[in-house]
Amino acid sequence: MLKSLTTVPMTQIITIDGPAASGKGTLARRLADHLNYFYLDTGKFYRLVGLEAQARGITPEDDRDAVVEIAQNLADEFTLDMMDNPKLKSDTAGQMASRVAPHPPLRQAILDLQRTLANTPPQGLSGAVLDGRDCGTVICPDAQHKFFITASTETRSKRRFAELQSMGENTSYEDVFADMTERDDRDANRAEAPMRPAENAIVVDTSMLTANQAFELVVENL
Ligand code: C5P
Repeated sequence: MLKSLTTVPMTQIITIDGPAASGKGTLARRLADHLNYFYLDTGKFYRLVGLEAQARGITPEDDRDAVVEIAQNLADEFTLDMMDNPKLKSDTAGQMASRVAPHPPLRQAILDLQRTLANTPPQGLSGAVLDGRDCGTVICPDAQHKFFITASTETRSKRRFAELQSMGENTSYEDVFADMTERDDRDANRAEAPMRPAENAIVVDTSMLTANQAFELVVENL
């Protein structure tokens, strides 16, 4: 007698791309919780590489081979608990991340790892929510649902400034705005995997929305 074929269900993948402080991180985490999917913050890979480059005194623009080597080591030795390092949240880590991120061989070094985590989520979870800049365009172009979460530079700078103030950081709104503009410019204008909505992504501008409204809008569109 023929054995019945067992079909392996395909992992559901939702990509949430967009610029810093657009609200995409909060939204992606909440969505992953809501659906019981794995949450993958892809920016953390670049933050890990950026911080390690800084710790070794490497200027990413001058010594590209060294940052690629850091990324390759990260891909070889990666464990999920690396994502919990509190230093990854700092603005320095974000700036260093966007300075290492434009280099194609570095992106290539971590691409397989990102795809594997998305397609075979830990703990046998049935889906993954990816948060980043190129999740819907490069990492998982075949994702079932794609969103691009954005907001005006002013709105995002105000949010980030309030967040830094609440953390007791001594900074000005003008400095936050300048950093935000610089990072957006680098992320959107690089040749490799620039930040942009995938062709079939739903674009959500959160400038006039609360976090709850943005979440509901995304859930309605799944
Ligand atoms: O999202 P997050 O602020 O953690 O990203 C830090 C930096 O990492 C971004 O400014 C961007 O340069 C880079 N990044 C990327 N591709 C991703 C996620 C982040 O290039 N998928």
